[in-house]
Amino acid sequence: MPVINGWRSSEELMSYLGAPYRFIGPDVDYRWFENYLNNRSNTIRCCVCEDGNAKPLCLVTLAGIDWVSRNCELHIMVGNDENRGKGIGSFAVKKMIEHAFLDMNLRRIELTVLEDNARARHLYEKFGFQYEGIKRKAKYKHGRYVDMRLMALLKSDWLAGRGSNNTIS
Ligand SMILES: CC(C)(COP(=O)(O)OP(=O)(O)OC[C@H]1O[C@@H](n2cnc3c(N)ncnc32)[C@H](O)[C@@H]1OP(=O)(O)O)[C@@H](O)C(=O)NCCC(=O)NCCS
Repeated sequence: MPVINGWRSSEELMSYLGAPYRFIGPDVDYRWFENYLNNRSNTIRCCVCEDGNAKPLCLVTLAGIDWVSRNCELHIMVGNDENRGKGIGSFAVKKMIEHAFLDMNLRRIELTVLEDNARARHLYEKFGFQYEGIKRKAKYKHGRYVDMRLMALLKSDWLAGRGSNNTIS
């Protein structure tokens, strides 16, 4: 929790996300985590940790699971800049797609990403997420309103594409 609390209070990290930057004290995050533990039927949170210890490098989440329509939202953060660009995000997204489709029997994973977050967009496209539209001026970031891109991956498309790029090991 202290590591994740540090990320969630980081202005640098939050600049990549739709959520606004604000200081989040440790007490708030312990309650946030407690709330997650009490609502695990519609949210799944996983961490990628450093080899040999439990130090988290990346938090990846399937949120808002709708068991009728079998949809969910994907959220991801590799907490520290020095750990980005090393394949951790690709590993986490691949594992969460497999978990969503092959273990949880979900059929659609959607997400929103800031239009100017080129690295995240590339990551999602690499795994077959498709562009579905723009939420215009949806977020207020760095003193201006910015667009959010809606993307989604269907299980049927993912299964059809297995064996190509989206099954990288
Ligand atoms: C986005 C994020 C999850 C990606 O994880 P990562 O571990 O850094 O990414 P990876 O190393 O697995 O892969 C990055 C890919 O993006 C590419 N990339 C890196 N910088 C890029 C850029 N500026 N523009 C386009 N592609 C870029 C890399 O070449 C790589 O592609 P490849 O595998 O085809 O070679 C991570 O950088 C992160 O947490 N960023 C901050 C928070 C964030 O943006 N979260 C997503 C919110 S929607």
